[in-house]
Amino acid sequence: MVQRRSIIEGVGAYLPERVLTNDELSTKVDTSDEWIRERTGIRERRIADEKEVTSDLATFAAQDALSDAGVEIGDVDLIVLATTTPDLTFPATATAVQAKLGITRGAAFDVQAVCSGFLFALATADSMLKQGLFNCALVIGAETFTRLLDWSDRGTCVLFGDGAGAVALTASDSVNNDRGIITHYIRTDGRQSNLLYVDGGVSKTGTIGHVRMLGNRVFKNAVINISDAIQKVLNETGFSVEEIDWFVPHQANQRILDAVANKLGIDEEKVITTVGRHGNTSAASIPLALHAAVRDGRIKRGDLVISEAMGGGFSWGATAFRM
Ligand code: UT7
Repeated sequence: MVQRRSIIEGVGAYLPERVLTNDELSTKVDTSDEWIRERTGIRERRIADEKEVTSDLATFAAQDALSDAGVEIGDVDLIVLATTTPDLTFPATATAVQAKLGITRGAAFDVQAVCSGFLFALATADSMLKQGLFNCALVIGAETFTRLLDWSDRGTCVLFGDGAGAVALTASDSVNNDRGIITHYIRTDGRQSNLLYVDGGVSKTGTIGHVRMLGNRVFKNAVINISDAIQKVLNETGFSVEEIDWFVPHQANQRILDAVANKLGIDEEKVITTVGRHGNTSAASIPLALHAAVRDGRIKRGDLVISEAMGGGFSWGATAFRM
C-alpha cells in the first residue's frame, strides 16, 4: 500500500521592519553588546510595529510560502498556527489568518507549545494530511513575542524578537516521491514549568503577564533534551549524523546550538543559524531559519533535514524531512 506523505512544497517568512540592536537595548537596560553577543550570539532582533498583530505577520509569511509553492489559496484546506502570542484570547489566531487570506473552507486552529510550537504544529498537520482528512496545509509559526517581555529584566528582554515563518504542505500518494516528512518525536514534561513561563494568564491572574526564566537551568535542560530528540529521530530513521545534510534548529542561543553539535558530532557548517539577526522568535524561529537557508540556496530539493526545538513546558522535539 502506498503511504501518503506530506511534502514541503514552499517556505515563506516575514520579519517586521524595525530592528532593535544590542547597543540600543543597552541604553534601556543594564547590559552590553559584548555580553549579549558572547553569551547568546544575538546581535539584533525585529520588533513588530504597534499596529501589527500576530495574524498580520503570519498572513505575510503564509502568502510567501504559497507563492513559493505555486499553490493556489483556494487549494488550502488546513491552517495550523503555532503561537504563544495570539491576537486575542479567542478565536484562534489561525482563523484570523484564514479570513485575511480569503479562505472559506477547511479548518484553522492554533497550537501552543511555545518555542517547540512549530514542530508540534507540523506533526499535527502531517498526521491529518496522512489520514486523508485534508490535502493542503499551511503550517505557520508566528510571534509578537516582545509583547510578553519585561523590559526591565535583562535576563530575558535581550533574548527575544518578533517574526513569522510558514511552510505549505501538500499530500502526495506518489510511490516515486522520496520527498516529504519522515518522522516526528515530540515530548513534554510539566514538572519543570517554573523554570520558563509567563506570570499571567486569563484564568490565573486575568493579566497578560511577562516571561520569567531561570536561564542557566533552561540552558542545561535544552542541551540534554535537544540532543536526545535528535538521537531518537536518527535511531527511528536509521540515518547517521553524517547522512543528514542540514540541521535547522530552534534559535534560542548560539551556545546551545554549538553544545548540541559538539555533543552529537554534528559538523557546525551544517547547522543553520539565524539567532544573530533574529534573536529567539519562539515558534517562528525554525521556519524563519528554514526559509533563510532555502532562499540563499544552501538547502536544496531532496536534501535531508532535521529540525529540533526545546521550550517552555518543558516541550521539545525533533523532526526529519526531505525537502
Ligand atoms: O527558547 C526557549 C528556551 N530558552 C533558552 O534555551 C534559553 C536558555 N538560556 C540561555 O540562553 C542563557 O542561560 C542566558 C543567555 C539566558 C543567560 O546566560 P548564562 O550564561 O546562563 O548567564 P547566567 O544566567 O548564569 O548569568 C550570568 C551573569 C549573572 O550575573 P552574576 O550573578 O554572575 O553577577 C547575570 O545577572 O550574567 C548576568 N546577566 C547579564 N549581564 C549583562 C544576565 N543577563 C544579562 C544581560 N547583560 N542581559
